[in-house]
Amino acid sequence: ETKALTPPDIADRKGRTPIVCLTAYTTPVARIVDRHCDVVLVGDSVGMVLHGLPSTLGVTLEMMILHGQAVRRGVERALLVVDMPFGSYEEGPAQAFRNAARLMTETGCAAVKLEGGESMAETIRFLTGRGIPVMAHVGLTPQAVNTFGGYKVQGRGEAGERILRDAVAVAEAGAFSVVLEKVVEPLARKITQTIAIPTIGIGASAACDGQILVVDDVLGQFADFRPKFVKRYAELGRDAETAIAAYAADVREHRFPASEHVFGDNPKAIKGGAA
Ligand code: KIV
Ligand code: NA
Repeated sequence: ETKALTPPDIADRKGRTPIVCLTAYTTPVARIVDRHCDVVLVGDSVGMVLHGLPSTLGVTLEMMILHGQAVRRGVERALLVVDMPFGSYEEGPAQAFRNAARLMTETGCAAVKLEGGESMAETIRFLTGRGIPVMAHVGLTPQAVNTFGGYKVQGRGEAGERILRDAVAVAEAGAFSVVLEKVVEPLARKITQTIAIPTIGIGASAACDGQILVVDDVLGQFADFRPKFVKRYAELGRDAETAIAAYAADVREHRFPASEHVFGDNPKAIKGGAA
């Protein structure tokens, strides 16, 4: 059995080789991501990507556990991190510990991720002091979309000082890494140079210690969503459309099923028809 990467392994990568991260929500995709990446994140983006929710706000702990369990079955080498969903940790350290412990024990993940900077520092200290490694997440935090009034780029000018303070606060509170989402490059560079833990960027430039993207965006499966910071490496959504249209046409035109897909009485009579 190959040894899985741990939160300290990831923290040690700061200033060395880039930390490669992707999301996954299912076993088969997790298997592929695990063969190539250092961190697999079961993001609460699952709500928008797989369940059609308009934001991440409606994602529940039960959804995170179910997808966390599916992904766990596909991961051997990478560090598995599961997102804490909106409403499962903000009340205070005790609520956060109770729900993070459920995520860890029921999915087998080695760390959790939660959104927020200075306001979450006490909670991060509480969790990390009690055996729960935390990946933090500052800059654009999608669970606060209503406070932000949208998914706008963060950290221009004065606002950058607050985000820098957030990053310093989560690092000092004991987070082993921090996601920087949709912040301007000069701020990402400054944060990366200032704090002792790795920064994992999404729309936050190459100045970060690592990168993360939503796997469905990389694969071109979430067709109507195409932010500037995503690079598409495949067009699986387009391929799926073509395949499903061809299947529908084949059934309507009686081209499918063909003889090779059919079971007959005599196993040898029809090619490929063995029971
Ligand atoms: O939910 C998610 O997928 C995330 C990452 C993109 C950072 O939080
Ligand atoms: Na998330």
